Amino acid sequence: MPFIDLKQQYQTLKPQIQERINRVLDHGQYIMGPEVREMEARLEQFTSAKHCISVASGTEALLICLMALGIKPGDEVITTPFTFAATVEVITLLGARPIYVDIDAGTCNIDASLIEAAITPRTRAIMPVGLYGQVADMDEINAIASRHGDLAVIEDGAQSFGATYKGRKSGNLSTFGCTSFFPSKPLGCYGDGGAIFTSDDALAQACREIRVHGQSKRYVHTRIGVGGRMDTLQCAIVLAKLERFEWEVEQRKELGKKYAELIRESGCTGVELLGLKDDRDCVWAQYTVKVDAREKIQAGLLEAGIPTAIHYPIPMHLQPAYADPAQPSFPVAEAMGKRVMSLPMSADISEADQREVVRHLAKLAG
Ligand SMILES: Cc1ncc(COP(=O)(O)O)c(C=O)c1O
Repeated sequence: MPFIDLKQQYQTLKPQIQERINRVLDHGQYIMGPEVREMEARLEQFTSAKHCISVASGTEALLICLMALGIKPGDEVITTPFTFAATVEVITLLGARPIYVDIDAGTCNIDASLIEAAITPRTRAIMPVGLYGQVADMDEINAIASRHGDLAVIEDGAQSFGATYKGRKSGNLSTFGCTSFFPSKPLGCYGDGGAIFTSDDALAQACREIRVHGQSKRYVHTRIGVGGRMDTLQCAIVLAKLERFEWEVEQRKELGKKYAELIRESGCTGVELLGLKDDRDCVWAQYTVKVDAREKIQAGLLEAGIPTAIHYPIPMHLQPAYADPAQPSFPVAEAMGKRVMSLPMSADISEADQREVVRHLAKLAG
């Protein structure tokens, strides 16, 4: 059984994907071709954000947002230590300092009630992450940001794209929303890609310029930028995948519920489900549960032909490249790093496979 099944999705969408790719090969505008703007417009419609700016990856999306905000050495950006490295990497790349705030033990997202205590005169932005596909407490975070001199809020929605928070879409919940089109993400392409969402005209313009080496027009470099474009072929693939994305989002939510139901029905007490909040849904970029004796369970599942993964074993404050002696310990993130385990998940996983996973999991976890 694959950990993420992208082959079935390709088989279903093969004619649309091939037609879209062929169209790009025929017109030959590989960089900034018409599919780039077409995809951005479709995603503006999908999220209701005023602007979508496609970029080379999810990492680039986060970096360009911070650059557009003018984040510089000496600035502080508050974020979670329990995330993929990219969230923290971009802060550090600009010479700014990531300030970690521990996570909520239920949802594994940043604990909004701890953020205010981490704010200093140097704080410039807050970067929550919608881990596993469930958006963080964005209303509380936006309220804290506006109480403290309009700090920027950048939602890292690489895993939560497609999810809904109080009726609004991930990506359109704060100053900026960012996502990744890495192939295994809820909305993936066939390589690297990402997008920035904002409803602020000036910030959108800054991002568009930074994406193309800071050019306000050809060979006029108004600001420092990067080579951050998403290529036309990848945008064409996203356009084809958008044809069934809404179905996939619904499917992912249902499959998440099915996993939870099967685990509860199994009667096993050794598996703790992720904490979910009523006012938002989860698109399950990863179907992650919490277990003890994880290594033994993983080995047993692998023996039964069931792959698993850990998102993520070592929180950022314990990573050699990002450790900060002034921020030595975040106990909840550390505890979760030892317990989380992700099960096979994709929009096309069959109920038979889910049952098989849970049958073995329940036996091993007890
Ligand atoms: C939470 C989070 N942020 C950022 C990224 C970076 O996205 P990309 O791989 O497209 O650069 C990822 C992707 O793995 C992610 O999971």
